Amino acid sequence: MSRRWHSASAPGKFVILGEHSVVYGKPAVVLAADCRITCSVRRSRRNTLNGEPIEFARQPLLRYLTRNLRHAADFMTSSDIPAGAGLGSSAALSAAMALAIGSMEGTDPGERQLVDEAYNAELSLQGSGSPMDASACVHGKGIGVNLPGTEDRKLWRISRNGNVWNVSDIDVPEMTFVVGNTGVKAPTGPQVDKVRRFVSRSNFAMEMIEEIGNVTLSGYEALKKNDVETLGRMMLIDHKLLSILGVSCRELNKLVNAALPFSYGAKLTGSGGGGCMIALTDQPERVSSAITSRGGTAYIMKTGTPGAKIEECMPDGPLFDIPVF
Ligand code: PMV
Repeated sequence: MSRRWHSASAPGKFVILGEHSVVYGKPAVVLAADCRITCSVRRSRRNTLNGEPIEFARQPLLRYLTRNLRHAADFMTSSDIPAGAGLGSSAALSAAMALAIGSMEGTDPGERQLVDEAYNAELSLQGSGSPMDASACVHGKGIGVNLPGTEDRKLWRISRNGNVWNVSDIDVPEMTFVVGNTGVKAPTGPQVDKVRRFVSRSNFAMEMIEEIGNVTLSGYEALKKNDVETLGRMMLIDHKLLSILGVSCRELNKLVNAALPFSYGAKLTGSGGGGCMIALTDQPERVSSAITSRGGTAYIMKTGTPGAKIEECMPDGPLFDIPVF
């Protein structure tokens, strides 16, 4: 039995336009974030995560991803994606872990299978949601969901509970975003449930969802033309619509307002209720200091980050072979 470490990494993601409405099959535009999680795995006698025994009953994500393993394994992870902050950390962890497990088992899952693994792992954690995060973390760079005119770049089609998500590769011009983390933890599941309750009892909420869909399409047209002014304007409208749906919060609004004087546009990203906002800007340093001065943590992000991939190194050192027991 080889006890060689197998490593893989995957990026986080941020949503330029379309979170929440994508859950109802509306379009979305998502980019891979310039930060990654790395997962290493090797055969072992006991199941451990970062040196601690794994309690599968409390780890639905790990339980799902390891369901077909016939042996125990050690997992090591390292990450610069803030957790529970709307940057897709659980999808990135799932994608990196599934790819590392595939490498250990001598199988190459390929992007399509990897997306299914990451999406189902996320569902085991949060119960409902779209395959948007999993798709962005696996494929990297930029993806579009249910965007008309992208059929020739189609990556995959996923359907669940009557909703269909056609995911495509999209061209993303060089742009700079600043991500601002409020530091307020807000898990995805409750935010998605909150919007679902609102939608189920009010036509008005469904109209907001439709409106986010329209804004997303206009923003995508602007992105294709590298028209950052219009794209930024659509991002701000999207933020206002999401606020009406009840998923923004004081801290997010504070950081959005701080970024706006130096940005084309800004909005919350991900499920909201806390977590992160993004600003599209060509003055990243000024936006970063505005965010920092209001108590947020800022990360400058460029476009073009690669998706899930095999890594040659352990997170903290070179790959090495350990003798069999
Ligand atoms: O907060 P995150 O990174 O898990 O993003 C969730 C995005 C939602 O549209 C709110 C939910 C989903 O599954 O699409």
